[in-house]
Amino acid sequence: MKGLILSGGKGTRLRPITYTSAKQLVPVANRPVLFRVLDAMVEAGITDIGIVVGDTAAVIEAAVGDGSAWGAKVTYIHQEAPLGLAHAVKISEHFLVNDRFVMVLGDNVIEGGITALVKQFTASNWNAQIVLKQVENPQQFGVAELQDGRITRLVEKPKHPPSDLAVVGIYMFDHHVFEAVRAIQPSWRGELEITDAIQYLIEQGYQVYPYIHEGWWIDTGKMEDMLEANRLVLETIEPRTDGIVDADSKVNGKVVIEKDAEIINSTVRGPAIIGERTRVVNAYIGPYTSIYHDCLIADCEIEHSIVMEDCRIEDIHHRIEDSLIGRNVEIVRSPVKPRAYKMVLGDHSKVGIL
Ligand code: TTP
Repeated sequence: MKGLILSGGKGTRLRPITYTSAKQLVPVANRPVLFRVLDAMVEAGITDIGIVVGDTAAVIEAAVGDGSAWGAKVTYIHQEAPLGLAHAVKISEHFLVNDRFVMVLGDNVIEGGITALVKQFTASNWNAQIVLKQVENPQQFGVAELQDGRITRLVEKPKHPPSDLAVVGIYMFDHHVFEAVRAIQPSWRGELEITDAIQYLIEQGYQVYPYIHEGWWIDTGKMEDMLEANRLVLETIEPRTDGIVDADSKVNGKVVIEKDAEIINSTVRGPAIIGERTRVVNAYIGPYTSIYHDCLIADCEIEHSIVMEDCRIEDIHHRIEDSLIGRNVEIVRSPVKPRAYKMVLGDHSKVGIL
């Protein structure tokens, strides 16, 4: 069994973060989403892994390398443009050849990993198995119709959903999927759709079965989803302190203080994680907050947010909440007169001011 992770795409909904990096590298509870996908694959016993990359190939290759950090062998497959999930499968045929494989979207986070579903597909002789999840708003997803335990139809964002089972970003296939991705045509949005490829398999009489995932699953395409994934993963962390907490500080609840981090005269209320070499000074870090490595958080309050590496947030009088803050960002009080907001913001930045 091989693995295929899709990490191309444009990430337009996560701008400006995606102007300079890949959304798959945004840390959720201080571990990039893509690393979590790799963790899940390796845990399921899959070590021969292809990663489909697009415009952000360089940063992804720099972060993941040859996969040896996971004990895996990673092959990069370059997609010239985000022409659809089925297109990503099509260009990966030379890597996948005749092997059965599991395909996971590189921006998805799934509770409990993929071991159980990989095991079930490996033990079967089915041609495809599609991970589904019960949702409250099936109108907004690709939805599966089931009959006698098989998937009989997939419909994209149906007005009248045939079930409440949405297609999540995990699929398992055998080599017949290449016949499907060659047979289908691009959709109205110009992409080769994986739902059309699966529908083709069904219509040709191949065996397509569901796997119903019981835990949570988050597609981190948007900022709110990223914060939700962060919240859900932080709920599961085991508290530990590998850094320094001084006598004037309070650390409550599930909190991880990573190596060489320092908490000085501050309160950290979990679930929260403070990254390596980050200094928290005279500050309050509230629940559901992840501060990544090498940051300075001083004389301010921050809650329900993700802060990426090398940021400096200092002397801010109102609490920062519900925020996703990219690398090397400075939010500081301006000492010089005239007193005014002074900003250097990239395209598509969003700032809420009191
Ligand atoms: P999407 O979130 O559907 O697309 P996107 O990443 O381009 O984001 P946006 O809609 O905000 O512009 O993609 C899901 C995952 O699949 C993501 O990890 C990127 C990857 N992908 C590819 O690798 N190739 C593709 O052709 C497409 C469409 C997506």
